[in-house]
Amino acid sequence: MIQPVVLSGGSGTRLWPLSREKYPKQLLSFVGDDSLLQATVRRVDGLAGATLADPLVVCNEEYRFVIAEQLRLMGKRGGIVLEPVGRNTAPALTLAALAATRDGADPVLLVMPADHVIADTAAFQAVVRHGAALAAEGAVVTFGITPDAPETGYGYIQSGAVVDADGACRIARFVEKPDRATAQTYLDAGNYLWNSGLFVMRASVWLAAIELCRPDILAGCRLAWSEGQADGDFLRVGKAAFVACPADSIDYAVMERLTGGNAQLPSGVVIPLAAGWSDVGAWDALWQVLPKDVDGNVAKGDVLLHDCHDTLALADSRLIACVGVDDLVVVETPDAVLVAHKSRTQEVKKIVDTLKAQQ
Ligand code: GDD
Ligand code: MG
Repeated sequence: MIQPVVLSGGSGTRLWPLSREKYPKQLLSFVGDDSLLQATVRRVDGLAGATLADPLVVCNEEYRFVIAEQLRLMGKRGGIVLEPVGRNTAPALTLAALAATRDGADPVLLVMPADHVIADTAAFQAVVRHGAALAAEGAVVTFGITPDAPETGYGYIQSGAVVDADGACRIARFVEKPDRATAQTYLDAGNYLWNSGLFVMRASVWLAAIELCRPDILAGCRLAWSEGQADGDFLRVGKAAFVACPADSIDYAVMERLTGGNAQLPSGVVIPLAAGWSDVGAWDALWQVLPKDVDGNVAKGDVLLHDCHDTLALADSRLIACVGVDDLVVVETPDAVLVAHKSRTQEVKKIVDTLKAQQ
């Protein structure tokens, strides 16, 4: 049994002005009609050779109705674990593992960030089947992306001993978010992959790993879970206990330690993923993954482009017209318009910071 777990907690500030605190990027549709969250849930549909449980979504309680409605519109049901505050991904996954094991079951969890794009569903499903088989035997599996730049926002995985003939390797080293100089040395070394942020492991394996690495997080989550209650599909957790739970990410709390040094910890395994993965961190990444016209432009909504190239123009409520510009991002919403050079879209975060400071 595979239990899809969707982590939906980030706010996506670099995709301002479409992504807002009230409406974070995973709830928006950039590609086709599905929101990123809906596309994430749909990505495992029809996974051959596996029994799939209904998805389990872990999100802030503020988004419960939007998320329940998005699932309903897809004809899906599933548990929605509600966090009163964000405590990062390690507590979020721990709550999911407690929810998944509440009836005594021990499914293989397929942990998926709600805000990624994966172009090739078939290739994705193939590695999920492969990963689930290794996870069923006790491994913690992650999928690795061949890096093409010294990005500092990713985890870097050094491949170790070969596990099988289908590309799985032991994780020799896992370094979360190195600085640029270190990232460059990993890129040059040639045997490092980016961590995709997708994980596969048995629920019991995660609970045992977090107990060893961060017993304080497990204790906080257990208390919050025991004080929670089910409310239809919503699974609430005890507020005071979860607020008191320490925050940390899966990567820092556990993944960096799964390198074989501690025999009590499960083994970490990485499987390469070549499926058009993007974490859609900023507008340039979105342009990268969207279908383009012959001039390399991506236009959505009421947009007129004359002699423009490699430009992303998204109109929400008014006409956008551009003449003779290249590599531009123009995003129009009723109360804000962003115009940015495509090579500088990481810096949109600075605008959001300025706006926050003015509030
Ligand atoms: N429910 C819940 N609660 N979800 C959360 C929380 C939380 O408190 N915090 C983050 N998430 C969700 C985000 O919405 C996202 O879908 C996913 O968990 C990962 O969190 P990010 O905050 O986006 O992590 P990151 O991008 O900095 O780093 C992770 O992903 C990279 C790939 O995109 C790490 O796993 C890196 O190692 C990895 O390279
Ligand atoms: Mg992310």
